[in-house]
Amino acid sequence: MTTKSAFCMVVCFFQLCIVSGQVICERKMITEWRTEPKPTVIKWTPRENVCSDFYTECWNMNKSISGEISEEHNLSIPQICPLQLQLGDGLFISSEPSFQSYGMNLVNVSKEEFINCPKADFLQDQLIFVCQIRGLHQVDPNWLGVGTHYFAELHKRGPLLCNMGLRLNVTVKQQLCQQSLGAPLCSGHGRCLSHLWEKTYNCHCFSHYSGTFCQKFDVCSTKPCHNNASCTEKSELSGDSYECTCPPKFSGKNCTEIVGQCQPSTCFNGNCINVTPNTFLCECDKGFTVIQIFFIKYFLYSLSI
Ligand SMILES: *[C@@H]1O[C@H](CO)[C@@H](O)[C@H](O)[C@H]1NC(C)=O
Ligand SMILES: *[C@@H]1O[C@H](CO)[C@@H](O)[C@H](O)[C@H]1NC(C)=O
Ligand SMILES: *[C@@H]1O[C@H](CO)[C@@H](O)[C@H](O)[C@H]1NC(C)=O
Ligand SMILES: *[C@@H]1O[C@H](CO)[C@@H](O)[C@H](O)[C@H]1NC(C)=O
Ligand SMILES: *[C@@H]1O[C@H](CO)[C@@H](O)[C@H](O)[C@H]1NC(C)=O
Ligand SMILES: *[C@@H]1O[C@H](CO)[C@@H](O)[C@H](O)[C@H]1NC(C)=O
Repeated sequence: MTTKSAFCMVVCFFQLCIVSGQVICERKMITEWRTEPKPTVIKWTPRENVCSDFYTECWNMNKSISGEISEEHNLSIPQICPLQLQLGDGLFISSEPSFQSYGMNLVNVSKEEFINCPKADFLQDQLIFVCQIRGLHQVDPNWLGVGTHYFAELHKRGPLLCNMGLRLNVTVKQQLCQQSLGAPLCSGHGRCLSHLWEKTYNCHCFSHYSGTFCQKFDVCSTKPCHNNASCTEKSELSGDSYECTCPPKFSGKNCTEIVGQCQPSTCFNGNCINVTPNTFLCECDKGFTVIQIFFIKYFLYSLSI
């Protein structure tokens, strides 16, 4: 059997395989940054892991939320399930044993060449591996900088295998979750996440925290000002100071004090305590609030006149 006819056989074999099955790639819409890099092994074969429809198969997306996806959504490009990696993750290509004698080359191509498959000639510096693919090869980290990279198969006989799906879209993302080198992710007050279509990992803060790195404690969100007072954060270094602007008749740091002095039975359901010469506090019985007591008292007063 000549090399040519053997190549033909392999190709025909895989063409039959492709029509028989539809591959839906595994997807998570949102991923969390791992603190440890992880190796990924890609089986370099048109069987098992070649998807065709950009939208429903390769990205496993629901058609009803098409608004948020990119312009590529109606392209049908048979390809190895597209990958998203963290910066620093290892990528290994494991070749199909039956391909190993046919001389395949993996080349770095542009997006256009990825979509249309490259012509048979390529430059030496586009080669991902200097040798032809045989067994397990690690992709040099130089090919895996931040951004989207397209790798395609090129056989000296032409782009047939690329057209059948031996091409790979790899997007490498970095995290922007550390305020400084070695600092905890999101200052320990949030999660470092990336949505499928986002280009980076960013902080999503726990409640009461904000800022790019969740470094800011939002003291007003803890509602320290009572009785419908407005709260203003004071940008001091301590980060947790605030000022309450009290409505009329209320006073004190948290607007819990009432302007006036205790009179007999001022507090309807609680104890009255004078705080300053012109403010007092109602220490409420269980189940009552200052506002209730205060307004019930005023309501009764206005009825009596
Ligand atoms: C697609 O999205 C709709 C609405 O969001 C949902 O009802 C439906 O179950 C989803 N289908 C799949 C296959 O996820
Ligand atoms: C997607 O389909 C629409 C209409 O069906 C067409 O106008 C548009 O050019 C297509 N986009 C691509 C990238 O193929
Ligand atoms: C890979 O190819 C693209 C498109 O031709 C090019 O912009 C990029 O610089 C190449 N990557 C490397 C690491 O040479
Ligand atoms: C490659 O994958 C990225 C997401 O990781 C996507 O935005 C882009 O459209 C894909 N490119 C093609 C040509 O499918
Ligand atoms: C104001 O409220 C904060 C908690 O929200 C509390 O720690 C503080 O003691 C209160 N200050 C006064 C004067 O009531
Ligand atoms: C609380 O304040 C807002 C705006 O300052 C006002 O619209 C609202 O009526 C106030 N509520 C009460 C119970 O006083």
